[in-house]
Amino acid sequence: MSLKEDLLKFFESHNEEFISGQTLAQSFNVSRNAIWKAVNKLKSEGYKISSVSNRGYCFSSDNDILSIDKIYKYMTDNSRQLKLSVLKTTDSTNNEAKRMIAQGLSENALIIANEQTAGRGRLGRSFYSPGETGIYMSFVFRTQLDLSDAVSVTTAAAVAVVRAIVKLTDKHPQIKWVNDVYLENRKICGILTEAVSDFETCMTQNIIIGIGINMRYSDFPEDIKDRAGVLNAKGLSRNKLIAAVADEMMTLTEDLKNHSYIDDYRKYSMIIGKRIDFYKNNIKNEGTAKDIDDNGGLIVTLDDGTTETLTSGEVTVRLSNSIQ
Ligand code: BTN
Repeated sequence: MSLKEDLLKFFESHNEEFISGQTLAQSFNVSRNAIWKAVNKLKSEGYKISSVSNRGYCFSSDNDILSIDKIYKYMTDNSRQLKLSVLKTTDSTNNEAKRMIAQGLSENALIIANEQTAGRGRLGRSFYSPGETGIYMSFVFRTQLDLSDAVSVTTAAAVAVVRAIVKLTDKHPQIKWVNDVYLENRKICGILTEAVSDFETCMTQNIIIGIGINMRYSDFPEDIKDRAGVLNAKGLSRNKLIAAVADEMMTLTEDLKNHSYIDDYRKYSMIIGKRIDFYKNNIKNEGTAKDIDDNGGLIVTLDDGTTETLTSGEVTVRLSNSIQ
């Protein structure tokens, strides 16, 4: 670890405390000038550190730094069973999960990254994952499920994210079928579920649930900037929201046969009663989203009066003036 990284680790557990350059220099066995340089480097990376003569350096608690200790602190005992990893940067936490599984991961895990360089979305899309402003995390559940139950996990994950946001903020998030979370008609969270399964038994061996949440404003790329939104909950740290989502996930995945969470999925749905477009066999269909069934299927009434239940795919919702 570099001095800068050592300092950051130290500051994380000494928020809002003034520590003199002399004390830091002695603790890390370097000169005061080396400390000053490392602090300036951290400041240039955006960390809020105030320097006051005769008092030293003070690391602001506004710095939203991912920390295993803090996440554990906020978690209930149930979630503390997860093996936690926090990475500064990775290609994709879902890829990281697959690598850990290939190396013999033997317990349920939660892998979190500050930044993803090749974040993946559904349907082969990419997921914009800049550092500091978002949550990128993948749960790994080592569980034997048949594939229909594995699908429920995705629905459950959307409910977990919404419940956690509702618990910790005064925001009103909504779920857009299948598994996007929206706030004020902008997407703030996407979920990508992948299974490692046994071809012979058709049962999953591991299930990976990747969740990406845009916490704070960042410069969204042109192709998503009209649709992407941010949670922007003042005073809410990433560590706290991660722990709350984990707690909800652990509760919801205890018994996937129990679909009672679908009530919350319906309650928070942004599409029930709305006009929607969807594609089937490459043909565009229009209809009205009527309800969500107990397996998370979307019941649609088509314009010719017939009813269909969609189990996968993508829908676009017609809001008053725009298409989401
Ligand atoms: C989507 O909106 O299409 C799904 C986006 C899923 C993004 C998350 S971020 C954590 C995990 N790692 C990835 O590469 N993707 C998921």
